[in-house]
Amino acid sequence: MTDATAAARNRAMTDALRAAGSLTQARVEAAMHATPRHLFARDSGWLSPDHGAGPGRTIHRQADPDGWWSAVYSDGSIITQRDDGAGVADSANGAPTSSLSAPGVVAEFLELLAIRPRDRVLEIGTGTGWTAALLAQMDTDVTSIEVDPHVAEQAVANLKTADRAPRLLVGDGAEGWPEGAPYDRVHATCAVARVPFAWVEQTRPGGMIVTPWQPMTGYGWKLRLIASGSQAVGRFHGTAGFMMLREQRTAARWNPRHADEAMSTRTRLDPRTVAQSGTGLALAVFAGCPGMGMIPMDNDDGSFSLLQFEIGNAEGAWASCDWEPDSTDYEVTQYGDRRLWDETENAFAWWVEQGAPGEDRYGLTVTEGGELLWLDQPTNVVGGDH
Ligand SMILES: C[S@@+](CC[C@H](N)C(=O)[O-])C[C@H]1O[C@@H](n2cnc3c(N)ncnc32)[C@H](O)[C@@H]1O
Repeated sequence: MTDATAAARNRAMTDALRAAGSLTQARVEAAMHATPRHLFARDSGWLSPDHGAGPGRTIHRQADPDGWWSAVYSDGSIITQRDDGAGVADSANGAPTSSLSAPGVVAEFLELLAIRPRDRVLEIGTGTGWTAALLAQMDTDVTSIEVDPHVAEQAVANLKTADRAPRLLVGDGAEGWPEGAPYDRVHATCAVARVPFAWVEQTRPGGMIVTPWQPMTGYGWKLRLIASGSQAVGRFHGTAGFMMLREQRTAARWNPRHADEAMSTRTRLDPRTVAQSGTGLALAVFAGCPGMGMIPMDNDDGSFSLLQFEIGNAEGAWASCDWEPDSTDYEVTQYGDRRLWDETENAFAWWVEQGAPGEDRYGLTVTEGGELLWLDQPTNVVGGDH
């Protein structure tokens, strides 16, 4: 592959991102052209196409060069590590723990950051170093923190090849890096369930924090907060799915123990409606059913189940609601101290009464005491402290 062919592939990628609406700013496009993605891709990995565009697959530069180049310049993330290094990156098995992020979502986040010349930027989650290199290309003073020393080592090598020199640190990005504060921009490229207050403290008033926010298993948003000095306030800008900040990982597990003691009732609310009414409802459920996770399940026999559980508590309450074709109402099974389906019905009714708001009507305030979700304006808090 010549440099010219690689550049042509890079241009085809940014053209596709423009057509898809992920890339609108000329300076982000110019940074992508000047920072070829293949310099940050390893010889093998696992391509995970974004937007459900087909199944994942192994990529291998030597065994299938054309497949590798197509993957590198497609809109998919490339898994570079599984199970914190204990798993095999280019297989389908094991939890992804580091990746070369998908170009579309990288562009969307870079645009949300609204970078200005010489901004001081803190990135959390160096990964391959591609985002740090793009930020450096946009004339910023970048510091990037990676928790995994092996991943960080590879990023150092990648950045050297790409001839970019952001400041790289190995450590826990949840603590930020006070020595470099105040930052104009803080950008996490791993998801948080709760925004660490250290990021708020280290962001200059008027500065921005841009992060994937995933408070519930399976649901994530692009969040942009503006810091005021003592807190940070902002809104959601579409959805995003990322790997979690290491300390905030939780297992998603539906554990229907003591099923014989569970309470069985019936409901007229179709569980498919709860699963499919969009992310505005998901935010209402997050606020109304704190700490609850949901797994939608299409069953082999054509029925559908919505499984609910307490996140990170395998001994906690659980519920399921089962849809069957041609039924007028549906079976609900609930067990434990909380009635998770009943809470969901209440959250659903609240959401309908508010006019079925989409995610764009919600926002988040982060204070030292925690997070507050709100609807339309910060004084209209939904649920309580998270
Ligand atoms: C999706 S990858 C980042 C992709 C990267 N920005 C790129 O352009 O290639 C997420 C990274 O966040 C890292 N990470 C997870 N928890 C972290 C933490 N507490 N501090 C710093 N990095 C963390 C992971 O090890 C992983 O490398």
